[in-house]
Amino acid sequence: MTDAPKTLQATIEKLTAKGKGILAADESLKTIQKRFTPYSIDCTDDTRRDYRQMLFTPADLGHYISGVILYEETLFQTSTKGIPLPKLLEQQGIIPGIKVDLGLVDLVGSGDEKITEGLDGLAARLEHYKAAGALFAKWRAVFNIANGKPSRAAIQANAHNLARYAAICQSRGIVPIVEPEILMEGNHDLKTSAHVTEKVLNAVFTQLKMQHVSLEHMILKPSMVIPGSDAKPASIQDVAKETLTVLLRTVPAAVPGIFFLSGGQSESVATAHLNAMNKQMSNTPWVLSFSYGRALQHTSLETWAGVSSNVTAAQAVLLKRAKLNSNACLGQYDATEEK
Ligand code: 13P
Repeated sequence: MTDAPKTLQATIEKLTAKGKGILAADESLKTIQKRFTPYSIDCTDDTRRDYRQMLFTPADLGHYISGVILYEETLFQTSTKGIPLPKLLEQQGIIPGIKVDLGLVDLVGSGDEKITEGLDGLAARLEHYKAAGALFAKWRAVFNIANGKPSRAAIQANAHNLARYAAICQSRGIVPIVEPEILMEGNHDLKTSAHVTEKVLNAVFTQLKMQHVSLEHMILKPSMVIPGSDAKPASIQDVAKETLTVLLRTVPAAVPGIFFLSGGQSESVATAHLNAMNKQMSNTPWVLSFSYGRALQHTSLETWAGVSSNVTAAQAVLLKRAKLNSNACLGQYDATEEK
């Protein structure tokens, strides 16, 4: 445990390398099944392995991707040639990470709000994951915007758990990704989204500080400030401006990286938002990058569709998406390249 700070520093520097982001490929069994269903892909150990193997092996992926978040099953799977899947990432200079939360349950007494489980026994699980190559972790909390929600109870309970998780990770030499996601479902406007995001991030950082989490050795993975999916959409520029305003108010400059989730935005819109932020402000105290799941995988999965002869085409699609997002990290995304 004594080398934990050194390990944390080395990992954080690699993860936040200029122009690189994170691929979130940590869908739970239920979620990956949901992603496979539209393409009639059977959801088995082998198809999940084949899919992740496809995602992890495009040549040069490591030019744009610094880390990949894995689901527990994937961390212990081997490729068709018998190589552990995390090793395939390491061969590309990509750091394997692991989703360590155990998902959402109802927050009793709080209507239909959720709390994230997984703290009991976390330290022991981290040792097991570390031995398999994981150097960073992810924990996702969700908040929904509706009448009076998120409640104070949901904000405080989830913020407390996020900080507990982060502190435990750091004590084991694992860099925590702290993910408070404000869901986009609803008809709330941009200002409401900004207000709620600010409230949640303030609570999260209060807890992180109270629980002695080293802000220098964590990554924040927030949602962008966008209007609800049933509300009038905002312009790319307005989303970038509101998101930057909220982050500047809430996220200490000591935090090295803010890596956004895509949360149901389309691939090109998620890229355009990230690009606009990096263009509007090129001197943010933190690296502004991506940790996208759907917004990196969507077209690649559609192209693959569970068919081995589609692997090369699906990998080309993923590589292009990763490159466009890498450009967006530098404020150099050109939307005409989407064609
Ligand atoms: P999306 O980018 O699809 O929101 O996934 C990111 C993620 O890791 C959600 O926990």
